[in-house]
Amino acid sequence: MKPVRIVVLTGAGVSAESGLGTFRDRDGLWSRYAIEDVATPDAYARDPALVHDFYNMRRREAAQARSNAAHHALARLQQSTQHEVTLVTQNVDALHEAAGATPLHMHGQLDQALCAACAHRWPAPMEMSPETPCPSCGGATARPDVVWFGEMPYALDAIDAALTSPDLFAAIGTSGQVYPAAGFVDVAAASGAETIELNLEPTSTRFDDHRLGRATEVVPAWVGSLVQ
Ligand code: APR
Repeated sequence: MKPVRIVVLTGAGVSAESGLGTFRDRDGLWSRYAIEDVATPDAYARDPALVHDFYNMRRREAAQARSNAAHHALARLQQSTQHEVTLVTQNVDALHEAAGATPLHMHGQLDQALCAACAHRWPAPMEMSPETPCPSCGGATARPDVVWFGEMPYALDAIDAALTSPDLFAAIGTSGQVYPAAGFVDVAAASGAETIELNLEPTSTRFDDHRLGRATEVVPAWVGSLVQ
C-alpha cells in the first residue's frame, strides 16, 4: 500500500465493546440522562453537583475499561511507517492512548480537570465536586475538561489541517449526529479523499464504502488491509 495521508474519526462505538455506553443506541446515555441537565454550560451553572456526579460516574467506568482490538488496530495503523495517520476522537475516555495511539480529543478528556475561572488544567481526581479547588487559583471552580453542547470543540485547527488533503477518511463507531465531526466526511470528500464508514449499521450514504459490523471485528480487518 503506497504511503497515504489518513484521517480517522472515532466515536463511542469504538469503546462500546470495552463496556463504555454509547449515547444514542437503545440504552444509550442520552436515553437515561437529559443533555440539558448534565452536558451544557447552563447545567453546570445551575447544578454543578449533578454535572460532577454524571462525569464522576463516567470517569469511574472509563478507569475500569480496557482497550479493545479496535483501539489496538488503530494504534498499529498510526504507528505504521507506511502512512501519515491523524486520529481524531470524539470520545473522552483514554482507551486510544492505553492502546498506544495519540488521538486528538476534540471533545476533551474525562481524566482532565479545567478551572472555569482561570482555565488551569490538571489531572482530574476520580471524584470531583463543586468544592474541588483549582490548584492554581484556589477557586471552587473545577469542571470536567470535556466540551459541552454549545461550546467550541478542541483541536479544530489541527483537524482542519489534516482535512486539507487526506487520501483516505474513515469514520468509525459514530452516528454522525453531532457537528462539526459529522461534517468531516464532506470536507474530506471535497478534498478528493476516499471515504469509508466502519460501524454497526450504515449512518449515511455520503461514504464511498462501508464495513458493517462490530468494531473489534471490522477495524482490525480494515487495518490489516492497509498495513503490511
Ligand atoms: N461496533 C461498531 N459500532 C458500534 C458498536 C460496536 N460495537 N456499538 C455501537 N456502534 C455504533 C452505533 O451504531 C452508532 O452509530 O456507534 C455509534 C455510536 O453513536 P453515538 O452513540 O451517537 O456516539 P457518537 O457518534 O460518538 O456521539 C458523538 O455526541 O453526545 C455527543 O459528545 C458526545 O462525542 C459524543 C457525540
